Amino acid sequence: MDIIITHEQADFDAAGSVLAAWLLDPSRMPILPKKRNRNLASFIDDYKSRLPFFTWKTLPKGTIRRILITDTQNIALHERMEGVKDIIVWDHHPHRHIFPDREENIYENTGACTTFLVERLMDHPEIHPGRIFATLMLMGIYEDTGSLTYGTTTARDIRAAAWLVEQGGDLDLMRRYVLQPMTDHQQQGCELLLQTLESYEVNGKQISIAMADIREISDEFSAVAHHLRDMLNPDGLILLLGVKTGVRMICRSTTDEIDFGAMMRVMNGGGHTRAASGLIPVEYMETGNAADILSDAREKVLRALPEYIKPPAPNLADKMKKGMSPEQLKLIRLIDETAEQLDTPVYIVGGVVRDLLLDHPVMDFDIVTEGDAIRLGKELSARYGGRLVLHPQFFTAKWEIPNGTSLDLISARSESYEYPAALPTVAMSGMKDDLMRRDFTINTLAVRLDGEHYGKLLDLCGGLTDLEAHLIHTLHKQSFIDDPTRMFRAVRFEQRFDFELEADTLRQLREQLEGVQLLTGQRIWHELRLYCAEPYPENNFARIVQLGIAAQVHSALCWTDEMEADQVRFRDAKRAAYWNDVISADLDTTDREGPLWIWLSSFPLKTVIELGERLLMPKKTQRIIEGLSQLRTDFPLISRKSPSQITFFLEKLPAESLYCYSLFCPESEKALIKNYILKWRHIHPTFTGEDLIEMGIEPGPQMRTLLTGLRAACLDLDLNPEEETEWLEMSIEKGL
Ligand code: CTP
Repeated sequence: MDIIITHEQADFDAAGSVLAAWLLDPSRMPILPKKRNRNLASFIDDYKSRLPFFTWKTLPKGTIRRILITDTQNIALHERMEGVKDIIVWDHHPHRHIFPDREENIYENTGACTTFLVERLMDHPEIHPGRIFATLMLMGIYEDTGSLTYGTTTARDIRAAAWLVEQGGDLDLMRRYVLQPMTDHQQQGCELLLQTLESYEVNGKQISIAMADIREISDEFSAVAHHLRDMLNPDGLILLLGVKTGVRMICRSTTDEIDFGAMMRVMNGGGHTRAASGLIPVEYMETGNAADILSDAREKVLRALPEYIKPPAPNLADKMKKGMSPEQLKLIRLIDETAEQLDTPVYIVGGVVRDLLLDHPVMDFDIVTEGDAIRLGKELSARYGGRLVLHPQFFTAKWEIPNGTSLDLISARSESYEYPAALPTVAMSGMKDDLMRRDFTINTLAVRLDGEHYGKLLDLCGGLTDLEAHLIHTLHKQSFIDDPTRMFRAVRFEQRFDFELEADTLRQLREQLEGVQLLTGQRIWHELRLYCAEPYPENNFARIVQLGIAAQVHSALCWTDEMEADQVRFRDAKRAAYWNDVISADLDTTDREGPLWIWLSSFPLKTVIELGERLLMPKKTQRIIEGLSQLRTDFPLISRKSPSQITFFLEKLPAESLYCYSLFCPESEKALIKNYILKWRHIHPTFTGEDLIEMGIEPGPQMRTLLTGLRAACLDLDLNPEEETEWLEMSIEKGL
């Protein structure tokens, strides 16, 4: 295998030249070091999936035979390079005679190394780099030539840059990543600042502070701050500049965890989280000692800082160890290692993280990747076996693991709703979008799993704060309109965790209740069924009634103390063994739906039938609820009748209805139902239709009447076979 490598702390020229060398010969494997300067790192982060680079970790196995080094003659030796003698160097720095001279080596005097490689691309009309590649190479040339302004810039750099623009190089895109060149004054100020630079650790963040008296330098210093931030790459940078009116502060941060905007707002300034400025006015600037004034300002800034730096993101590695089973942890380890090697950030997201933080047991989890989940799935199944089921249209894969379990791998995605209550349209996206599409802040927490990031909590929507405040909080005011099932979910989480609906969320829910009417029956039924898996389903039923959600499903739905009592009896009941003959264990949905059967059957049969139609319940469920509703209204009367009348009534109803009814009916009725299950339903005459034919009775209504009457007599009078014959003969005689 041939590889292309470049220097550590790679910049755009390093990456641009590796890319160009790869375009010239794509059989070479282009490697970038893990350490990259900030701008390059953020460009690569943003366009990772469209760039061809490997790191040493992701480089496929194989023997390295030839090495091409670009943009340097000073290379860090990697163990896989040991013993490789076939080395070519392409560089634009002065020739240092480190590597043996050979014909293929190129040492050119261009402003950027990328330039002379681009010149070679220009000789290949069949190569079209396209926008992203051309922009990366363009940034290489721009960065090393100070946007074509440094004295070292050559006409060749400018020509190569022009060609790259023709090839799609995008100046707007480039401006987002490369440095603006500094003026002489700014360079002078930059040097002054570097002399006083000091680093502090505040709340776990590295803050660099530099001071300079710039009263004699009239220039704009934000470019200097930009430059120093990129050069030093601290978490936060503060420049304290002595100006005529006091001490000007220019602040830049490389993380949202430092809110310089808020800090500067209370210091006569403002700005954004990552870029802000302010002023400490000093009246005696003319007469005072600038060094002392700047030192005082530094003290003041250091005192104020901690309030504006969020404490480091919690790490959930310990909670995962405690809250997950050894099998789950083993699986997570495999994913962690594979994702790290693919350089793909992977997360567990949502309910699982919420439950870990609440010390609730973790049932199962999905994996969300920032990037292509299918690629991760392919690698996992190649390494560890199993089967991969792909759903490319949703960017997901299901890995069926050899141990018999399975794991869903999902690419981070954004969702949009074409119209209220529609199912969402999906597009592959970053983690932020993936979290923003979710229902409540407590479900937006994520834990990263790959490599050095293992266990780090990602909290982009304030989920942790709401979790600690016990609040169910939507992410935006459109949330319930997009998906009205979230109203049912809000209640489920509120009741499960004993949380509260945040004030705005409650208002939105109340204002948007009518959205429930747009939901299909199946979706509502699904949400209602989920209540049955909660420890106290009745609290959820009561709450959807109280909030007015239930009335949107059917205006008759209400909640009473009696209904509550029925639910408690259902939950506390121990099912007697005789029910096992009639309620088959493998089809048993009693636990999963029972609470709903009991609640919905409290309404008159007409309402129950309407509910069945609205909720599009499965036929069997509908029959059970209707049966239960009939029992409630009719059985108190029927129970006073004969065993045969009771049996004929009960026989028409599903066993599940009888079971549920027996839990809350009077003891006398319960005894009758038990009798029916154990005895009456088995009582049949010894005479059959065939016997009657032999006795000269034609099949038809008469035979049916006789057989029913005979069964009733057996049930009510406990006839023996002889008595049955007598009963039949007598009935036939009477012309029955
Ligand atoms: N989700 C959503 N809107 C919905 C349903 C789900 O935004 N109508 C999001 C939630 O953010 C949730 C994720 O999809 O975290 C997965 O939903 P679900 O499978 O219901 O998982 P959990 O939140 O874990 O719920 P539970 O604890 O009841 O399993």
